[in-house]
Amino acid sequence: MIPTFDPTRDYELRRAEYLDAFDRVLRSGTLVLGRETEAFECEFAEYVRARFAVGVNSGTDALILALSALGLDIGDEVLVPALTAPATAAAVRAVGAMPRFVDVCPQTLTMDPKCVESTITSRTQCILPVHLHGAPAAMGPLVDVAAKYGLTIIEDCAQGHGTTYDERHVGTFGRIGCFSFYPTKNLGAFGDGGMCVTNDRQLAERLRRLRCYGLDERRVAQIDGRNSRLDELQAAILRLKLGRLDAAVDRRREIARRYRESLTGTGLQLPDDVPGHAYHQFVVRTPDRPTLLREFQDRHVQYGLHYATPLHCMPAYEILCHYRGDFPVAELACDQIVSLPCFPELSEKEVEGVVSVLLGHLDSSRALRT
Ligand SMILES: Cc1ncc(COP(=O)(O)O)c(C=O)c1O
Repeated sequence: MIPTFDPTRDYELRRAEYLDAFDRVLRSGTLVLGRETEAFECEFAEYVRARFAVGVNSGTDALILALSALGLDIGDEVLVPALTAPATAAAVRAVGAMPRFVDVCPQTLTMDPKCVESTITSRTQCILPVHLHGAPAAMGPLVDVAAKYGLTIIEDCAQGHGTTYDERHVGTFGRIGCFSFYPTKNLGAFGDGGMCVTNDRQLAERLRRLRCYGLDERRVAQIDGRNSRLDELQAAILRLKLGRLDAAVDRRREIARRYRESLTGTGLQLPDDVPGHAYHQFVVRTPDRPTLLREFQDRHVQYGLHYATPLHCMPAYEILCHYRGDFPVAELACDQIVSLPCFPELSEKEVEGVVSVLLGHLDSSRALRT
């Protein structure tokens, strides 16, 4: 089987380092919010070039805490791309606000700035672009439209570790950038984890309180908070992996280059090679997806669908009264996209194996058409 992700490969390679890190934490006597988390927050902030970073329990919690810290409330609206992980919209609902969907650009499948203005209402407070698949959203135009309407930007960088826009790390264009450390991500923990980054000291302080029951230094709850802390074991692992993140993203880019080299000119639609793309996923598009998926299954190649259903077609969002046809670019993409195996430990032979299935598929589709 050629997998889309296999955490055992990295673990076997670096087992001694990981076990040392676990040992260090377990012997320190502090398991939650200690030195490892503090150090990782500093190192991660430095990596993305933000002033502050606050470790939390997951990427979803990073978004929920960011929305809460900015005071989003019942009745407020947040612009969310129609094509993203359900977590993006779920976080908006968790604070009582309402997502308003925006179609995506056909090239990058990220929020289309041209579709933003027509979605803004008097209740809109916030724009929440997603750096989907590791491709940077069009932050220049999005920042401009946010400034024009006095809106706040929160960036969903769950898939964007190592992603840059105009040579600047994503997560630093809006008020808060939110990252996930779910194991499959470009920077993945051995469980759940997340991070908010910001350049605003007061916001960072508020996020720290929100993640720990709203408590101040005297352990008095000043605001309504929750429990959303990054634990020391995950922080220690993430520190090790952060040191290798650039190399891991380089390897993803190399795999993307190999796919591109072998598949350009074959008729398969490849992802736009936008500068700063970190290739969390390498997503191709084919009008005959069911056949390709069957071929992948028969030849033991795993694939992903990120995502097969746009948010406005999910029952959870029926409340917004959308129909098929409302966000045509996202809808077409959902019918055609396939994520190929793309993770740093994938071997050259495996990349070739994936390419050979794709070339066979394209040959047989061509033969059928002629
Ligand atoms: C775009 C996006 N946003 C948010 C999340 C939520 O992150 P987590 O799974 O860490 O809660 C994910 C994770 O799948 C994601 O891909």
